[in-house]
Amino acid sequence: MTRLPMTEPFDVTSPEKEGVPSGPGAGDRREPGRFAFGRNWASFLRVLDEERIAEAERSLTAMLGAERIAGATFLDVGSGSGLFSLAAMRLGARRVHSFDFDPASVACTQELRRRYFPEASHWTIARASALDGDYVRSLGTWNVVYSWGVLHHTGGMWDALGQVAGLVDASGVLFISIYNDQGPISAGWRAVKQFYNRGAMAKAAVVSAFVPYFVGRGLVVDLARRRSPLTRYRDYRRTRGMSMVHDWIDWLGGFPFEVAKPEEVFHFYRQRGFTLEKLTTCGGRLGCNEFVFHRSTS
Ligand SMILES: C[S@@+](CC[C@H](N)C(=O)[O-])C[C@H]1O[C@@H](n2cnc3c(N)ncnc32)[C@H](O)[C@@H]1O
Repeated sequence: MTRLPMTEPFDVTSPEKEGVPSGPGAGDRREPGRFAFGRNWASFLRVLDEERIAEAERSLTAMLGAERIAGATFLDVGSGSGLFSLAAMRLGARRVHSFDFDPASVACTQELRRRYFPEASHWTIARASALDGDYVRSLGTWNVVYSWGVLHHTGGMWDALGQVAGLVDASGVLFISIYNDQGPISAGWRAVKQFYNRGAMAKAAVVSAFVPYFVGRGLVVDLARRRSPLTRYRDYRRTRGMSMVHDWIDWLGGFPFEVAKPEEVFHFYRQRGFTLEKLTTCGGRLGCNEFVFHRSTS
């Protein structure tokens, strides 16, 4: 593996073309005012370091087991920064394919391949949508299908949840995470996110209202627990290698935005012949529920 400088600029607006099917295709629900996920990921790549990559690897192995990834085919649906495709490569996946709807996310994933696996022909990257049935069917089936924090941002969550089911091979696993449904609270956040994407002024208003709120709330909790307020910022990287500031922006802007109760996701996949293997909930609060399903044998 080659380590290249992390700070080199790269163009997030025009991912290099690759010989794989790409393009938004049929089935995309391009809502006006979509959040620019890829721009936030491009900024995240500036703080990406070895420790964060190791945390991303740990988060994959904690839910899937290292033996499930080594030698496996790994499909990353909505690859974002490309960090988890990179983690799968480092964990020894035999083949990795990453795709994302946002060209800037695609460029980020390509940038990580350029930095860490410039010679790897077994890591392919495309711009495509999880809602594009023709594209999804063209991918065949995979040992591991990974789609963390993506399908609720497509604008057609239940359709997208159905699309990825067809990508899992007979002995394969599906690892997804979906925003928790908090009823009226989720509806409120949806309105905030929609407003954020109205333009620069709206974005500035949302950031300047909510970021001090997040900071202040954290401070109150830390003081009540007699914990150093800095600890939460230092330790946040243990959350899948992520960065708190980038996650705030992703949370405030991430639109389209849909939510589901854990039991709804469970029933959806059970009806499609899947068994729930692992579940991590956010305890009914704000955040994502994580699911690992495998195909039922009977
Ligand atoms: C919150 S990020 C998650 C990225 C990555 N999976 C991770 O865990 O860090 C959501 C990603 O989903 C992508 N996305 C949204 N709609 C999509 C679609 N229809 N098809 C594929 N990717 C999509 C966004 O562009 C964005 O990069």
